[in-house]
Formats: sequence, C-alpha cells, structure tokens
Amino acid sequence: MVTLKDGNIPSEEEVKKKNRGMEGMVAARTGISHIDGENGRLFYRGLDINDLAANSTFEETTALLWYGKLPTRRQLERFQEKFAENRLIPNDVISILLSLPKKTTPMGVLRTAVSVMATYDPDEGDNSLEANVNKSVRLTASMPTVVAAWERIRNGLWPVTPSTELSHAANFLYMLTNRVPTETEAKVLDTALILHADHGLNASTFAARVTASTLSNLHSSITSAIGTLKGPLHGGANEQVMRMLLEVGDVDRVDQYMEGAFAAKKKIMGFGHRVYKADDPRASWLQKLSKQLGESTGNTRWYEMSERIRKLVQAQRTLPVNVDFYSASLYYTLGIPLDLFTPIFAISRVSGWTAHVYEQYSDNRLIRPTSEYIGPEDVPYVPLDERE
Ligand SMILES: CC(C)(COP(=O)(O)OP(=O)(O)OC[C@H]1O[C@@H](n2cnc3c(N)ncnc32)[C@H](O)[C@@H]1OP(=O)(O)O)[C@@H](O)C(=O)NCCC(=O)NCCS
Repeated sequence: MVTLKDGNIPSEEEVKKKNRGMEGMVAARTGISHIDGENGRLFYRGLDINDLAANSTFEETTALLWYGKLPTRRQLERFQEKFAENRLIPNDVISILLSLPKKTTPMGVLRTAVSVMATYDPDEGDNSLEANVNKSVRLTASMPTVVAAWERIRNGLWPVTPSTELSHAANFLYMLTNRVPTETEAKVLDTALILHADHGLNASTFAARVTASTLSNLHSSITSAIGTLKGPLHGGANEQVMRMLLEVGDVDRVDQYMEGAFAAKKKIMGFGHRVYKADDPRASWLQKLSKQLGESTGNTRWYEMSERIRKLVQAQRTLPVNVDFYSASLYYTLGIPLDLFTPIFAISRVSGWTAHVYEQYSDNRLIRPTSEYIGPEDVPYVPLDERE
C-alpha cells in the first residue's frame, strides 16, 4: 500500500515501484515480532530486543517466540534438556552429506538436509500443534549439527558428536572446531543468535508462511525459507560484507575503495532496509560485540574498517546500517569461514520461522496474491513447421 508522504500524491511510477516489492502491504497478522522502523526498535512478543540481548539466551528466546511468554526456570530447564537431547542427526543424513560434492555451499547442504530430515522425523505426516512443536525442537536443535558436520566433512574431517552439556551456541562452536569455546566466544555467538531469531515478515519468513498456507508440512516450509534466506539481498549479505572487507584489506585503503564504490554506484552490503528508516537496533549490538571480541583477541582490524566504511556511507546518504554489517567482522573474528555466516543466520532464524508456521496454521487462509498481466494477448498458435 502506498502511503501519502508530506501530503503529496505519489506518482504512478512510485506506486508501481513500491508495489513491485509489496512494500508496505500487510500480508499477515502476527503476534510474534514487531519492528518500529522509524525509531529503530525491535520487539519479540512485546519484549524489547535490547532487554533480550542483555539478559536472555537463545534457548529462552526460542521458548518466548514459540510459547508467547518467557518460560519459568523449570520450563526453561526442561526446554534446554530437550534441545540437548535432539542434537544428533540420523546416520543416513551423515551418509548423504558424505556423498555430496565438496564444493556444495553450506546453505545448499542445509536446505537439502532439512528437506531429507522430514523423512526421518517420527512426526512426519502429523500436522497437529504438538507434533509441530516436536518437529521444531528436532530441527532447531539439529540444524547446527548439519552445518558443523558439513564444515568438517568438506575439510576431510569426521564430524564431532554434539555435546549434551553445552549451550546451543557453545555446542555449535565446539562441533565446528572440536574445542570447547571460551565463555566470551560462546556468549558473543549466543547474543548474535538472539538478535537474528525473528524479524517480522521478512522474505524468508514470508516464504515459510506461503508454504504453510498451502497446508504443506513444517519441513517444507523451512526448506522454502532456507532457499530464500540464501540470497545476497537477504541473509547472504553478511558474507558479501566480509568479502568487501577482505577486498579492501586495510583501514588505510577504505577511503580510496569507497570513493570507487560510490563513483560506480555500487550497492554497499550491510546498508539499507525495507522497514528501518533509523539504524537497525541489532546492528548496535553486533557493533559492540565485534569491538569487544576484536579487543579480546587483539585484532580490531575488521571492526575498525567497518567503522570507517559506515562513517563514509552514512556521510554520503541516509542509509540505515543493518544486521548484516557488523555480524561479518564479528563472525570472521570468531574464526568462522565466510560461507558459514548465512547458515548461522539460518540456525537462529529457524526459531522464528517455526513460530510463524504455527501462527499461519492457527488461522490459515491460502496466501495467493494476484499479478498484473503485461504480456501479449490473443497470440495465434503457429504450427511448428510454419514458424520463423
Ligand atoms: C535491503 C534492501 C534489499 C532493501 O531494498 P529496497 O527496500 O527494495 O530498497 P531499494 O533497493 O529500492 O533502495 C532505495 C534506494 O536506496 C538505495 N540503496 C538501498 N540500499 C543501498 C545500499 N546498500 N547501498 C547503496 N544504495 C542503496 C537504492 O539504490 C535506492 O536508491 P534510489 O532511490 O536512488 O534508486 C537494499 O537496501 C539492499 O540491497 N541492501 C544491501 C543488501 C543488504 O544489506 N541486505 C540485508 C538486508 S537486512
């Protein structure tokens, strides 16, 4: 829906541009998360993301998204146990990973594995809320295992068996490196997972809801969502930010690089947003974390380069910094390979996707918009031999 800005009636061209990407259209009602784009604020189930990032854990945040309120201590303990018990992936899935070409992208592997895992899920075929919560626990608990297993397999190493003792975030880093992470490393990743867990009707969540609206199952919805998150205009932007930082190479080279980027009218990854007009509140957290981790490891280069780029971009035009900008330097400083950045987004966002799938099922109507036809009309069928 195009709104009137400053009392001006939008031109036909402006209306068409906005409609093309469904900008501002309400396509679902949700009680899961709310973005106040004008003021740069984000809420999960009414709770400010700043309070969650400061005080919560990924497990607790997931319980909040799924059940609508913060769990009690007893509920949280039980929830964490269930997560820890469901981290293993079927041996057949490991066999499939072993059979894939080593060049397969981790997002491609994740999309394939989630699709295949439907077959091994004991609740496959049951679309009740209870079955879907069980499926969501299994998926959310085991997606990190798939990502870490693939990282090991493609490097000729055997996957690390998940720990039942560590937190969700710490266990992921452990499976990736076969080393129990430091408290700082685990905390930094845990906060990043909280920040990525849900975000209104973003493209991948919309894809999940469209699939659920046909009454297809939960695994299909999440498979659609992973395929959608993969693109560089969505979750793939964090990897592209890091590629830019690596290309620049040093703080001293930032100004020259950005001059060229501005002259070439390049899109700068990690900036701009469909909903935020002010800076993304998640970016402020990731900025702090990136700085903190850089200082604790004695390498603030990537953080400093990011700061300089942001200054130059925002001096040029009013573009909000988004969630993908500082997550790049943060994950790189954590020692995570570039093409695992977007899978990390996925292993967090699955908690939001699944919450949206329950919500869609609970008040479903097939999502089926219309299109404006702009092709030719009444074209005669020319027999094969008479065509030129
Ligand atoms: C996120 C994004 C896809 C939103 O797209 P959108 O709502 O369709 O906005 P538009 O692409 O129409 O951008 C509006 C204007 O800002 C400019 N713009 C938006 N993001 C920009 C960026 N990152 N760098 C430079 N210019 C940008 C556009 O060129 C356009 O300019 P114009 O009006 O002069 O043509 C877009 O900002 C983008 O591609 N950002 C980079 C990728 C990224 O970081 N994605 C992660 C999102 S969380």
